[in-house]
Amino acid sequence: MEIKRIGISTGGGDAPGLNAVIRAIVLAAVQRGWECVGIRDGYNGLLLPENYPEGGLMTLTPDVVRGITHLGGTILGTTNRGNPLAYPVLGEDGQYHEVDRSDELLDAFAEHKLDALIAIGGDGSLAIAGALADKGLRVVGVPKTIDNDLDKTVATFGFNTAVYFATECIDRLHTTAASHQRIMVVEVMGRYAGWIALNAGVASTADVILLPEIPYDINKVVEKIQSRDERGRDFSIVVVAEGARPIGGDLTIIGKEVGQAERLGGIGHKVGAALEALTGKETRVVVLGHLLRGGKPTAYDRLLSLRFGAAAVRALAEGETGIMVALDPPTVNYVPLSEVSGRMKQVPLDCDTILTGRDLGTSFGD
Ligand code: F6P
Repeated sequence: MEIKRIGISTGGGDAPGLNAVIRAIVLAAVQRGWECVGIRDGYNGLLLPENYPEGGLMTLTPDVVRGITHLGGTILGTTNRGNPLAYPVLGEDGQYHEVDRSDELLDAFAEHKLDALIAIGGDGSLAIAGALADKGLRVVGVPKTIDNDLDKTVATFGFNTAVYFATECIDRLHTTAASHQRIMVVEVMGRYAGWIALNAGVASTADVILLPEIPYDINKVVEKIQSRDERGRDFSIVVVAEGARPIGGDLTIIGKEVGQAERLGGIGHKVGAALEALTGKETRVVVLGHLLRGGKPTAYDRLLSLRFGAAAVRALAEGETGIMVALDPPTVNYVPLSEVSGRMKQVPLDCDTILTGRDLGTSFGD
């Protein structure tokens, strides 16, 4: 079937580069004579149109996407509570229940004459995209996450920006830590993977880096800090991934609501309190959190986003469906969505960046 009109959605947590992907899709699609429609807030623009006085869909023309490549966030809005396969619906008991609304969603695509979908998102959004493709919708996925934990692509856009900004922040903490002879603990996002902590930690020459992939022994961290003290290096920088956990211990979780993934966070404060108690050194904790998701994308992420957006349109034009565009230097290729969902890419323990950190004397708490 010939494509005339496509829908674009951004789902899950935002990441710098989303707007660049949207711009590339629109320009590449319009060149092929297709119309583009943005779906507001994941799929809510189609599932809850009554919530949008101006309409749950946005007509996207080259004029609408002009000048957005460098802007953080997403002009379409996003949500991590809008999974159409497990949609949170308020029941008569006053509780939210997860309901499968995917058939309603497909009806809405047909009603609005949307011939195909480009779904931009992380593991959750790409699993939804795969399920919609299995139900017959023409779908191409675009991988997004600052966490870089998606398999089958060398990188996701947003990650480079997060690492760049975290590195800048840790540099700033270095100077104040040194002035006050303190321990500075910096917690960074990343869910169950330590890519951001590892890359920003090594780049900023942190003294200790705690990753989800390497459960830590707090006594090893104390040893590292004390050995620095003995050498007259009386301050220390400890980078902690939000998914880090002690040997034999659990993840630190803020909570979980219906229709949402569990929220990680708080390990930085636990590590900070333990280090202050065990070393007697004054300790401060900084949680970078959503600062890593905001702001404008780096040149690397902009370019990757533009490449992904254009490749997604090429894929649809070539008749592809049920695939994700993926970075496989020097090219962007296509991988089946079925090979992506449910496969988290964690940091391999023998990766060169961990070896580099170890060779330079960084402690990983093991
Ligand atoms: O996946 C991106 C991410 O920023 C994670 O690093 C973090 O755990 C999560 O999203 C937080 O999501 P939110 O605060 O939007 O629920």
